[in-house]
Amino acid sequence: MTIERMGVIGGGLMGSGIAEVNARAGLDVVLVEISDEAADAARGRIEGSLRKAEQRGKITADDLATTLNRIHPTSDLGALADRQLVVEAASENEQVKLDLFTKVGSILDDDDAILASNTSSIPIVKLGAVSGRANHVMGVHFFNPAPVMKLVELIPSLTTAPATLDRMRSYVTDSLGKRPIDATDRAGFIVNSLLVPYLLSAIRMYEAGYASAEDIDQGMVLGCGHPMGPLALSDLIGLDTIQAIGESMYEEFKEPLYSPPPLLDRMVDAGLLGKKSGQGFYPYD
Ligand code: CAA
Ligand code: NAD
Repeated sequence: MTIERMGVIGGGLMGSGIAEVNARAGLDVVLVEISDEAADAARGRIEGSLRKAEQRGKITADDLATTLNRIHPTSDLGALADRQLVVEAASENEQVKLDLFTKVGSILDDDDAILASNTSSIPIVKLGAVSGRANHVMGVHFFNPAPVMKLVELIPSLTTAPATLDRMRSYVTDSLGKRPIDATDRAGFIVNSLLVPYLLSAIRMYEAGYASAEDIDQGMVLGCGHPMGPLALSDLIGLDTIQAIGESMYEEFKEPLYSPPPLLDRMVDAGLLGKKSGQGFYPYD
């Protein structure tokens, strides 16, 4: 049963990228945001990303128009009723996600429809428990920027049916052409368990005045061959998102290495969220 109609909840950095990836793969996409203005902004982000792809000669003007026409931005959760798959990519806040899984679990018409979360760190089993369809809930974790990164983590919970995992594996591989890896339902899964302590260590190093932001980043780019340094990557991910991931991981493991440092908390308090707000460790246009 190939998935042809999917939905995305949240049209921020990740939701807009996930909607773009699905539409480029030929799927019909309903994209739900909190307001009509936010839905329009999500559409604008996707159009900007597609224009970039067109300018680089990766897609034609026709592809751009066809892809955009497959995406239906809205503020109405009810528009998800006929979807075969919904990927939730709203803010990394447990209560927001619990509310969404409670509502959307009862909106979906098809008993076999899958409700997935793109969460970076919140336990999947909790989202399944409130959805009323726990065997059809799992984590499907894309990476930023979604149109570029090949990886998707697949995270079944204790209550996910094996058939749900099988369907998501073939969706990721055959429909999207991405590479899945299998993770267990513990905060941070595979990649963030390794990445987040590294990013938080870089923020602590900068906070201690040990080195400049530029030198910390250059160290990892030129010394270790990373595509970008940890502070620039933190800005790309979003400092509020890193703070939320660190808090979830700290709650789960009680290890100080996951605890957000005070500088990160103060930057989020100040609205310095990284690239998406125009200022983080670096300024952005
Ligand atoms: N949409 C579509 N395509 C994009 C894009 C976007 N937003 N951004 C870049 N691209 C494409 C470009 O078209 C280009 O493709 P070609 O080489 O085929 O022309 C390619 O990606 C490289 O782009 P650029 O040359 O413009 O930029 P770059 O070489 O500086 O790469 C980058 C940008 C891909 C972001 C790279 O710096 C990178 O890989 N950074 C690390 C990203 C990373 O670690 N992501 C994981 C974050 S953690 C996470 O996601 C999990 C979580 O839960 C927090
Ligand atoms: P973001 O802040 O860019 O966007 C979140 C969006 O969710 C906002 O546009 C907001 O308006 C919307 N939203 C909030 N509540 C909503 C609701 N009730 N209904 C509909 N929309 C709602 O965040 P993001 O970076 O796109 O992260 C989204 C999810 O993806 C989080 O769970 C995050 O942990 C995960 N994630 C983030 C990254 C990353 O690098 N930023 C990578 C992988 C996974």
